[in-house]
Amino acid sequence: MNRDDIINDPTIGNKAEAYEAFDDIPTNPNLTRTIGDVINARYGRRDVLKGMLGVSATTTLFGASALIAPDATAADTPENSRYAFQELEAGNDETHHVAQGYDAHVLLRWGDPVLAGAPEFDVMNQTAAAQLMQFGYNNDYVGFLPLNEAGTRGLLCVNHEYTNEEVMFPGLGRQDSAGFKGMTPELIDIEMAAHGGSIVEIVKDPTGAWRVVQDGKLNRRIQPLNTAMVMSGPAAGHERLKTNDDPDGRNVIGTLNNCAGGMTPWGTWLMAEENFHGYYWTDVLDADGKPDLSGQADADSKKRYGVPGMWYAWGKYYDRFNIDREPNAPNKFGWVVEVDPLDPASLPIKRTALGRFRHEGAEATTSTEGRLVVYMGDDNRFDYQYKYVSDGVVSPDRAANSGLLDQGTLYVARFDEDGTVTWLPLVHGTGPLTRENGFASQADVLIDTRLAADALGATPMDRPEDAQPRGDGTAYIMLTNNNKRKDTNPANPRSASDFGHIIEIKEDGGDHAATRGTWSILVKCGDPTLADVGAHWNPETSQNGWFGSPDNCAIDAEGRLWVSTDQGSKWGKTGKSDGLYGVETEGALRGTSKLFFRCPVGGEMCGPYFTDDGETLFLAVQHPGTDGTKALKGFERKSTFEDPATRWPDFDPDMPPRPSVVVVTKQGGGKIAV
Ligand code: FEO
Ligand code: CA
Repeated sequence: MNRDDIINDPTIGNKAEAYEAFDDIPTNPNLTRTIGDVINARYGRRDVLKGMLGVSATTTLFGASALIAPDATAADTPENSRYAFQELEAGNDETHHVAQGYDAHVLLRWGDPVLAGAPEFDVMNQTAAAQLMQFGYNNDYVGFLPLNEAGTRGLLCVNHEYTNEEVMFPGLGRQDSAGFKGMTPELIDIEMAAHGGSIVEIVKDPTGAWRVVQDGKLNRRIQPLNTAMVMSGPAAGHERLKTNDDPDGRNVIGTLNNCAGGMTPWGTWLMAEENFHGYYWTDVLDADGKPDLSGQADADSKKRYGVPGMWYAWGKYYDRFNIDREPNAPNKFGWVVEVDPLDPASLPIKRTALGRFRHEGAEATTSTEGRLVVYMGDDNRFDYQYKYVSDGVVSPDRAANSGLLDQGTLYVARFDEDGTVTWLPLVHGTGPLTRENGFASQADVLIDTRLAADALGATPMDRPEDAQPRGDGTAYIMLTNNNKRKDTNPANPRSASDFGHIIEIKEDGGDHAATRGTWSILVKCGDPTLADVGAHWNPETSQNGWFGSPDNCAIDAEGRLWVSTDQGSKWGKTGKSDGLYGVETEGALRGTSKLFFRCPVGGEMCGPYFTDDGETLFLAVQHPGTDGTKALKGFERKSTFEDPATRWPDFDPDMPPRPSVVVVTKQGGGKIAV
């Protein structure tokens, strides 16, 4: 399926769904040995019959039919789950739901004033000037930086990934299928102002309720319309980063499609640039009306990254989003951006040492020696899992850490069938990463991270989304789906997976800096009662607890894994809205899952982020009322501004649905799920 097919697909209701479908198009030419093949080879049925796999591996891989009864004791029943809450009922309706005994308050909505002097939101009279001072659209990553010892005051750092014009603007409708004819320069500037991120001070009052400090001195909007940033690391200043606006190749305006992210141990915020390709434009089309890259510099590189995607019309008006006028401009995006929330005058820094790809997230931890380690997925079918390890160690002197994201080694993962994972260094001059193979320097290796990883023989994955390290040298990798996988080994009956799986990595020596570790599958997602789905959960998981399409994740203060989902337009296949689940990783209940929070229809569950005291959980409901609304009984049509499937969270007949951050606390106080 190509871009035009997606735009014209009658089953795709809006651009959010189209984006999801666009991710279906693999750009990796090396598809000879995918993670599916490796799983099949690693876990042959013979091994199971010989009892060579542990119980959890057997149940997760082969389901009840291959089940060896778990060693359950009374103390290990689900009632004794480490996730102490009564599970929600799964389903889908117009609003959100949280487990009994918890409050879920809407803290920040698209358009809420966040800078001093910001105007109140007026949805019928939107302007870029107002949006630049208001909370942006499609909140995804949420981080929290405490400003006091008690953690009752702090900065919320929120990514605004993208915009949905058909539910944002009155009378407009979906624009990519209409040649962007309705997209005026004014509307484009509003879209740009609604992207990026927000830093917002929040306080917890004595009643335990969190509220926004609108005149907080550190409040800030970061966006692609006019936020100045700098490039650093090995690719900064390289010829391929130079543009007419920036002859030095060291400066850039803005950040794009900021999906998930992370917080560093020294309290800076990492914003991951994901689907940057979608913002680039060309007027040079081939006979089929598709982008013609034959005259472009770096055509192979652009092709591998899917540039230009032409999902937004910004490049019609801005040279910096038009590859005909600025062929190097896309090389300035697809990076991880570091922001210091404590200094509102600081320039965000694009850290090129962490590679260029469709960065889903950037969750950081430290190695046993104290080096910084960042786990990062490249969210495309058949793309790769990466991690970055700094040369130096994290210092208690905050300023001393500024070089840790510039000097270090980027690795890509190879998962082998013997159960080992090997981290392959992306270092110029080693192995195939030489001038003869098109990599003249480390800058080339980083600008073309995907091509370099192809050359190293990394394992093509089923869309690596968020990856979450835990302090003990474990990391959880969310693989959201891959309906293009063709392998049909009977030991792995899902030749095309709509529902994804989760891989657990145990780094050698419990050290996140290790270049080798072991891997196993924690769960294979989807409905375990349908044989052809091929899902595998611990059978103690209830009908409410299983899920599809893991996306973001978090580890709480108790070391427990939480997983949020993004099924996109496929939620109708499960009948469940997206939500947040507690997924057990230990003991006899390993591989069970419990539903804690669910989204309103069409919304994707983002965040999650737990405060250090375990008493507050921040969640982000992205694009409510958009994905797959035709599957909602009683609505059964595509959402528009005038006729959305839900008007969550305001339920005001004059207000469309608004992406919002939700804060969850326990009624009466205390740690969540404890
Ligand atoms: Fe923006 Fe891969 O989710
Ligand atoms: Ca995501």
